[in-house]
Amino acid sequence: IRRLGVLTSGGDAPGMNAAIRAVVRACVHHGIKPYGIREGYKGLIDGQIEPMNARSVANIINQGGTLLKSARSQAFRTPEGRQTAFENFRSADLDALVVIGGDGSFTGATLFEKEFGIPVVGIPGTIDNDIFGTDYTIGYDTALNTVIEAVDKIRDTATSHNRLFFVEVMGRDAGFIALNSGIGCGAEEILIPEADRGIDHLIKSLERSDRTGKTSSIVLVAEGGKDGGAFEIAKTLEAKLPDYEARVTVLGHIQRGGRPSCFDRVLASRLGVAAVKTLMAGNSCVMVGVRNNAVALTPFAEAISKHNAIDDELLEVADIVSI
Ligand code: F6P
Repeated sequence: IRRLGVLTSGGDAPGMNAAIRAVVRACVHHGIKPYGIREGYKGLIDGQIEPMNARSVANIINQGGTLLKSARSQAFRTPEGRQTAFENFRSADLDALVVIGGDGSFTGATLFEKEFGIPVVGIPGTIDNDIFGTDYTIGYDTALNTVIEAVDKIRDTATSHNRLFFVEVMGRDAGFIALNSGIGCGAEEILIPEADRGIDHLIKSLERSDRTGKTSSIVLVAEGGKDGGAFEIAKTLEAKLPDYEARVTVLGHIQRGGRPSCFDRVLASRLGVAAVKTLMAGNSCVMVGVRNNAVALTPFAEAISKHNAIDDELLEVADIVSI
């Protein structure tokens, strides 16, 4: 490999900058010229390709967001869009690509390598932690910490007013953020799509809380549940239990920003270095991740199609410690 392009794609995640920095510096270390592609696949189609060097990624390890910017490109889903992207890729004389993003980004990368034979390696960057083949995705740990900080504040006011709060967190169709931050902030109930126990279970649990002397409760709701988001669930509950006056907070995009945690910075640095090494070793269409604290490769096809299961032990812990 002589010249390598790197881009961030899909929803941004804290730690993406640390990953860009690691990719660029690993390239410099190995005598490869690094190029930054701005705005994900969109920038590849528009020809936004710029040379980078060790100094162009200075002082970004501590910053959220992505220096290269990100986008969800519709045009890259079309063969014409990918053809234009390939032409730009070739005129910049690049010969390999690192894609930092989620499963949608890896789907695009798979097509790009299939159609044009470009070696591509992926780095999992998403707050959702929903990518098969890695125990952690970049940004997840920071998002968890953002959630518990916010919910700690909500708990103060919930306690003062003896109130029931529903707090909705992100995760698309996965409940990892809700389950782990829910345990971390002491949520009374955690509603996740993977273990949906329905409104009746929630009602029983709140009634038990009342009987055992709890005066306030926090229910963490994953955005992707079949009973709807926090507003819908609060409405359904109030219709069944009119004595409750629930309050709702949707945390939204604050979960995507902020200074990355040390965990995410180290993870991103490891995966950035590993991605360059993986390409140099002749691999393509694979994602670098960590499994049992060791770097591990997973073919894109698996990373995209399989799903990490929710840990039953965590569900049990959540139930036991929330009584
Ligand atoms: O994949 C990350 C994520 O933040 C999800 O948790 C959420 O469902 C989605 O992106 C929101 O996307 P957007 O920023 O495009 O609204």
